[in-house]
Amino acid sequence: MSALERIGDLLRAAHLDSALTSPEAIRSIVSERRRATGISSDDAYADLAARSSAEFGKLREQIAVPETWLFRYPSSFEVLRAQFMRQSRRPIRALSVACATGAEPFSIAATAMAAGIHPDDIQILAIDPNPDALQRAHSGDLGRMAARGEIPDWAQQYVEVLPNNARVAPAVRACVELREGSAPAALLDLERGSFDAVFCRNLAIYLSDAGRKVIGERLEALLHPEGILYLGHAERPALFGLDDQFQSASSGQPGAFAFARRTTAATETTSNTKSNSDRWNDRSNAPLQRPNPARPLGTTVPSPTAATSTTNRTSGELATTAAEQAATPSPESPHSKLFLSARAAADGGDLRRAAEIADRIHSTGDRSLALMELLGAVHLGLGDSTRAESALRQVVYMDPQNVEALLHLAILAERRGDEALAQRYRLRAAKGTS
Ligand SMILES: C[S@@+](CC[C@H](N)C(=O)[O-])C[C@H]1O[C@@H](n2cnc3c(N)ncnc32)[C@H](O)[C@@H]1O
Repeated sequence: MSALERIGDLLRAAHLDSALTSPEAIRSIVSERRRATGISSDDAYADLAARSSAEFGKLREQIAVPETWLFRYPSSFEVLRAQFMRQSRRPIRALSVACATGAEPFSIAATAMAAGIHPDDIQILAIDPNPDALQRAHSGDLGRMAARGEIPDWAQQYVEVLPNNARVAPAVRACVELREGSAPAALLDLERGSFDAVFCRNLAIYLSDAGRKVIGERLEALLHPEGILYLGHAERPALFGLDDQFQSASSGQPGAFAFARRTTAATETTSNTKSNSDRWNDRSNAPLQRPNPARPLGTTVPSPTAATSTTNRTSGELATTAAEQAATPSPESPHSKLFLSARAAADGGDLRRAAEIADRIHSTGDRSLALMELLGAVHLGLGDSTRAESALRQVVYMDPQNVEALLHLAILAERRGDEALAQRYRLRAAKGTS
């Protein structure tokens, strides 16, 4: 067996998808890690990755990137806030699996506080295998890109957005326990039925079918009978093998991707066996010890716009900011006069005019597939790689098998020297044509 095959096996044992872990897909990632560690051969690197969990983590990070931001998919937090406002059971408990640098669990905690729940009654458990990402979460300095999206008005007081950083109030952070671990293993000791909200977003896209199923079973078991499961935009309960049990709980909020059990009556509640004294295994435990009470922070600087924010995206990220936008009703129909004139300008070779009109439509909030395709093509033609890439990523988010967009993205990634990402796009494009 070759060294790359051995490394692929290690990654697949961590439930990563075989398309992302084939020798071709990991070749340049491994070269990069070899350069970083000063190791001269793939064989020696395979040995290191097998014996060092820290190095294995660095390798995994190249595939499952710790990419996240505050209030990602804002409408899901509207659903969550309504859920928390309805719920009288205390404490409220939420689980964030694959929390990356913490923006997701901090957003959950801020939502609970905004719903009027006392911080002592808010318990959020956040799990991720990436120690560097968790370290960033611990530090509270989430970085500029953590505030790339819209922050609801009701959450502004808990978030501080600075020109080069974003932070959440200490009281919000204090509601969150950050824990290093991987699903499903890290979920095994948790009490069944004990989480009112379970977030598992933008992890499934990296996982094998078997990995998603085994994690899905566990998530289902951990969710309270009346709890809500929150997924990413490319994800559905079916992806986790849970289609029959769940239905939308988005309450008219497009883009929330919230799911509740079809019936709660038939659902088993909790098991009586508790494996240890961990507070996640006993809802009746005393509330957490908290540091100082809430010190709301005021927002000082507006968030960066989605358009500027995508330029600094971690290169390996395949999910995009189209996430929030995909399900947003489009104010401009793809067949509107304005859109047709943009397309006509592009067809006639006047790319500048086409870009100008398409940008104007985009500024109205339109994120339709047709518009993003046009923007991708036009900016590509104008040589604006950053904007082209941003639009094309949104295209493949909404239409994951859009071969043309995938191939353009591969070329753009290749141009800036990210061979690994280019390869992943090519593989996806190949899948789309097979
Ligand atoms: C794209 S981030 C998702 C962040 C956040 N959930 C969101 O949607 O904004 C993917 C995260 O999955 C984590 N991850 C990878 N394998 C995992 C596993 N087996 N269990 C839990 N998290 C995992 C990575 O470390 C990375 O931080």
